[in-house]
Amino acid sequence: MTLHLGVAWYPEHWPESRWAADVKLMRDAGITVVRVAEFAWADLEPQEGRFDFGWLERAIALAADHGLAVVIGTPTAAPPAWMTQRYPDVLAVNEDGRPASHGARCHYDVTSERYLHFCRRIAEKLAVCFGRDARVIGWQIDNEYNTVSYSDNARHEFRRWLQRCYGSLDALNAAWATAYWSQRYTDWSQIPLPISGAHGFGQPHNPGLRLKWRQFVTEAYRRFQHNQVEVIRAHAPSQWITHNFMGFFDGFDHYTLSEELDFPSWDQYFPTGHLDFARDSAGHDLTRGFKRKNFWLIETQPGNVNWAGINSVQDRGETRAVAWTAVAHGAEAVCYWQWRNALNGQEQYHGSLVAPDGNPRPIYEEIKRIGDDFARVGALLDGTTVKADVAILHSYDDRWALHFQRHHQDFDPLHYLSGFYRPLSVRNVAMDILSTRANLDGYRLVIAAPHIMDKHIAGELRRFVETGGHLVLGVRSGFKDGDNALWPERQPALLQDLAGAHVEEYYALRGTIAVKTVLGTAGKRARGMLQGTAHIWAEWLVPHEGTQVLARYGAGDSDSWLGGQAAVTLRRHPGGGGVYVLGAWFDDALQDALMGWIVAQAGVEPVLPDLPAGVHAMKRGDVYILINDAEAKTVTFPWRAKDHLSGRTGKRFALAPWDVIVASNLAQR
Ligand code: GLA
Repeated sequence: MTLHLGVAWYPEHWPESRWAADVKLMRDAGITVVRVAEFAWADLEPQEGRFDFGWLERAIALAADHGLAVVIGTPTAAPPAWMTQRYPDVLAVNEDGRPASHGARCHYDVTSERYLHFCRRIAEKLAVCFGRDARVIGWQIDNEYNTVSYSDNARHEFRRWLQRCYGSLDALNAAWATAYWSQRYTDWSQIPLPISGAHGFGQPHNPGLRLKWRQFVTEAYRRFQHNQVEVIRAHAPSQWITHNFMGFFDGFDHYTLSEELDFPSWDQYFPTGHLDFARDSAGHDLTRGFKRKNFWLIETQPGNVNWAGINSVQDRGETRAVAWTAVAHGAEAVCYWQWRNALNGQEQYHGSLVAPDGNPRPIYEEIKRIGDDFARVGALLDGTTVKADVAILHSYDDRWALHFQRHHQDFDPLHYLSGFYRPLSVRNVAMDILSTRANLDGYRLVIAAPHIMDKHIAGELRRFVETGGHLVLGVRSGFKDGDNALWPERQPALLQDLAGAHVEEYYALRGTIAVKTVLGTAGKRARGMLQGTAHIWAEWLVPHEGTQVLARYGAGDSDSWLGGQAAVTLRRHPGGGGVYVLGAWFDDALQDALMGWIVAQAGVEPVLPDLPAGVHAMKRGDVYILINDAEAKTVTFPWRAKDHLSGRTGKRFALAPWDVIVASNLAQR
């Protein structure tokens, strides 16, 4: 696979007489791929059943004549007005029962059989036309799935799906404990759609019902996607199929949706403009983890977005740093949204490569430089990916269940996850973010807080530790079962023996509580013990015999309960591994120090040693990719290196702000 530089191109926004100049400028920038058509339904099927692909055929031909490959987006995120007017049942319905109005996008009902019929037909027609066309390399299904519909279609499908899940109402009633508040259902037609407290007269719906609803939305999108994938595969046997996800968006289970795709893609935007390696790389690692495969960054901003509070622009050089950060984490393509702003429409102010007058904007030159980089060194990365010793486990079920009942308003599960990601990222430790259902062979360190625990998850974690792995268990682990019901045992359910500890009680903290560890402060041996605080959440851990207590609570919020109790424990296991239970949400400095210590215990190494803070390093195959932040600095490699971008060789390299090095080890060649 080549490393692609791409752009979203909307030829339908412009008279054909302008296309050739656009495509020539794309080629001059080193762009190698265009994505087309993902919102063009009104031009592809201007009237019901009358298809016009002539303009698309001409656009594809022009792109190909200039050496550009084409990705076709199916246009199903934007049903045309003739359809929504004649068949209002294709429109999504909000929680209050109001249908979407025409004039924006994503206004469709993902559960509408009629809509599925129209989607299948347009996808099939396109696939028949372009599925064996060598100029087209792949397909994107729809665009950023997101809308949830509370229509009658959805209600009907949800109940049918629940019947398949549970088999009987007795089973459903037992799983959801519906004796509570007399919720018991005696007919499937009584089961409501869960609407949020504000709309539902103040009281939230049952946690079991709510979790199943989110799983049903996943199922609805899986069906919606499969409906198109099936017909495209039938006519496009050698073209790939992807979808552009939105990073950590949690509207549905991305692992399920990724199953049928050849690889996942995502759209990365920076509302404030700026790149923060330890925050923004997580989306790449998450997306790579959907299928444990490289991915496409199929959209990112050329400079600025138009939808943030302040749509500030990236610094000079920062757009290039963003592109290389994506590649460093496994992107096979970096594509910009968009080529040129439509004269009207909702996104007039968004960043683009050329202005409405058709001439390059200032960012064009920087993107051209990226095109030059990719042409120069892209081949070095062929067939390579990231190899990580650390996996952080992640689950949509957990995130949903925690959001329904945060218990502390600041308990944001993603924020909690970033407390593990950031300390490792700043140490330039490579990580995978994987499903809680992933196979864990080959990792040294696994970080998990599986709120929803089942035999499968517990079994894999047990196997991992018993074969020498180091496991970090975070707070609220092993709390719920697959129906979002409480486990009738103390946390971590199913893993108490492996952890060598259990949770006696949990506390939402109004303030902070002191935490004192038995670990020496880094670099000041014997000068004192590492200490800090916990906030938001704290668990009173009870160590079992043979388990070491690494930290205890001191004075502070809830200390009449927590004071003196264990906050962090370590259970060593015979195979050399162990389980660290981190029983609280620690302050950033303490969390950083604890994770640094655990990484060392687990024998995990950074990609390169002794890099100055602010230089991000990743490795793909034998290639080291270093990206600098906004401050100039110097890096020293432990061996003689060659930077393939500049041609420089040596051990010490000066880095300008947002500079990039793509290096190999000359000693190994
Ligand atoms: C999303 C969409 C694009 C565009 C951009 C603007 O990612 O997929 O169509 O609207 O946002 O930032």
